Amino acid sequence: MADIICVIGNKGGTGKTTLSHMICQGAGLLGHRSVCVLTDTCRTPLEPSGRHYLIADARNRDALTKVINKIRSLSGWMGIIDGGGNRTEMDRQLYGMADLVLLPFRDSPEDIRTVIRDLEMFPRAYAVPTQWPITPWQREVAETAVRDQLSAYQDRILMPISALPVTKRLLQHQLPLPIPHPLADACRNAARQAFDLLHIPITVQAPSYSSSSRNECPSASFC
Ligand SMILES: Nc1ncnc2c1ncn2[C@@H]1O[C@H](COP(=O)(O)OP(=O)(O)OP(=O)(O)O)[C@@H](O)[C@H]1O
Ligand SMILES: [Mg+2]
Repeated sequence: MADIICVIGNKGGTGKTTLSHMICQGAGLLGHRSVCVLTDTCRTPLEPSGRHYLIADARNRDALTKVINKIRSLSGWMGIIDGGGNRTEMDRQLYGMADLVLLPFRDSPEDIRTVIRDLEMFPRAYAVPTQWPITPWQREVAETAVRDQLSAYQDRILMPISALPVTKRLLQHQLPLPIPHPLADACRNAARQAFDLLHIPITVQAPSYSSSSRNECPSASFC
């Protein structure tokens, strides 16, 4: 049965969509078929061509149920559900159906306050530091904030996703190719972290979305 990862959290702009696409792209590069599932009604689906994963449009409840059921029925697939900010009820529902729940947060006081609330509300969820500073002194400040304010949750804080401006390419409607190496590496690392938590072995060979594999993909709407 396929695994479902939900990337959620109450705060807007934390990096939910970017992380969802990074995990999908990384999964594809590591040989795993995946679908990035859009649930945010304020956004439109991205163009799948050139990506190492498929895109599903599940912006209404019926579509979401159908896509989840389809993904669940497939072996060797992974569904990454991209949540939306300020949707506590939706987050609760996504939490209930997920095998792994990720809560991206930045190093701002507001993000940290909000991720504490979400960690309390979703006891199986992991917090993912995102857009994490790369200069040593800024990183030290961010790590100190995490140590001071999130010590009660230290076992549920994953490795940071560094700030990498080129990640915004993944959210362009049409993915510009080729993908720069630092972005591909960051995507693989994000996917590896999710694979470890789900105990998914890494096969390394990139999957092909041939016509035969597309025939068994989770929804005709994104094949
Ligand atoms: N690792 C990163 N490095 C640099 N910039 C990033 C990174 N992750 C996200 N960003 C940037 O942060 C901004 C918000 O990211 P994103 O849209 O993924 O957040 P979101 O949580 O999905 O937002 P929303 O709540 O509106 O859905 C975007 O401009 C994105 O390019
Ligand atoms: Mg988003």
